[in-house]
Amino acid sequence: MKVLVIGSGGREHALAWQCAQFDEVEHVFVAPGNAGTAIENKITNIDIDAENIPELVSFAKQELVNISIVGPEAPLVLGIVDQFIEEGLAIFGPTKSAAQLEGSKVFCKNFLERNNIPTADFRAFTDAKLAIKYVEEKGIPIVIKADGLAAGKGVIIANSLEEAVHAINDMLEDNRFGEAGSSLVIEEFLEGEEASFIVMVSESSILPMATSQDHKARDNGDKGPNTGGMGAYSPAPVVSDLVFDNAMERVIRPTVAAMQNEGIPYTGFLYAGLMIHSNGNVKVLEFNCRLGDPETQPIMMRLQTNLAELCIHATQDTLDKTEASWDDRTSLGVVMAAKGYPESYQMGDPITLPITSSGKKVFHAGTRLEGSQILSNGGRVLCATSLGMDLKDAQKKAYDLINEIEWSGSYFRTDIGFKGI
Ligand code: AMP
Ligand code: GLY
Repeated sequence: MKVLVIGSGGREHALAWQCAQFDEVEHVFVAPGNAGTAIENKITNIDIDAENIPELVSFAKQELVNISIVGPEAPLVLGIVDQFIEEGLAIFGPTKSAAQLEGSKVFCKNFLERNNIPTADFRAFTDAKLAIKYVEEKGIPIVIKADGLAAGKGVIIANSLEEAVHAINDMLEDNRFGEAGSSLVIEEFLEGEEASFIVMVSESSILPMATSQDHKARDNGDKGPNTGGMGAYSPAPVVSDLVFDNAMERVIRPTVAAMQNEGIPYTGFLYAGLMIHSNGNVKVLEFNCRLGDPETQPIMMRLQTNLAELCIHATQDTLDKTEASWDDRTSLGVVMAAKGYPESYQMGDPITLPITSSGKKVFHAGTRLEGSQILSNGGRVLCATSLGMDLKDAQKKAYDLINEIEWSGSYFRTDIGFKGI
């Protein structure tokens, strides 16, 4: 079979690499990919942007691609799945309407509320004065979220009234996020531990992926600015059997059922960002309509079943006839970013990578090739990922791998996995 992976990050490198391990997979194309996908066996980069849907459609038709897997949210929110399906092409992901679960926080929060799915208390606003009045009533800390996609920068946790007012004015008056910030959600600050709960959803069944935990803050001890994610591991010990059952029975199943009842059936990866209370109760922080980055990197290290085949099963609604098998070991990935990320950072630094043995893998994100030289080409650049007998062992092996990488402009956290250990 031929597989098309859409996107260019570490998540997409991991997806393409996982599919390419299997003999049944003849070839994997990645659009547009990065230096990591460019140098893998059986994987070829295609110079088409992830949001250029017409060209992706033509390519998939011309190459007789058997299954397309979408990494990032933007093409999903633009309706890539609707357009592929219209052309009779197999693609795994939610339709444009279903992708609103991630594409609009106002849609998501109203959906959760009317379906009694646990989430933080909230109100939606388009008027700055009313929003500020609400914050004054509720007090701080409080969380302000831009309605639309804002590349991970649209959530502000305000610890003072001034910060809250600034965030509200930024979005509603000064248009900082453009259309994405023309409405916002203000919600209660939740305490607890976060986990990423990701499932595959087909028309009539749900297949949970291995559990995982991300590290969103840039610096050690979960300090510093919010980022796309600085490291992740799988499984997440915080997801006990009780938490797993709560996540499935109170969040995932009711969400899938309610989407169906409301006439916008959801298929694709569904990622619930959960806040887990010490009593095991869970609340939805957000939904993503795709896999997480960097959660996918450790998850793919552990997945022993061909992902492309699972996706084909999902598009044919035969997911219940198959199973996903997982490596029992723990996997941990540390993101190497460019110094200065997420604000301003340098690109074009040369990087030299070690030759890795099984159980270790450096996934690329913001990299490009110049001749045979790998150069940094983004904020998050690499994800050094290892399998270990337990979390501590996986952590040690991932940091050993980092030590073998030569790149002078890198920045990474040195405590990925600390919560689980
Ligand atoms: P989101 O993009 O909605 O997941 O928000 C980004 C990050 O902000 C989350 O991963 C949490 O760490 C934090 N966050 C979002 N909403 C809340 C909340 N209601 N209470 C506490 N932290 C939150
Ligand atoms: N790692 C967080 C995300 O993918 O949204």
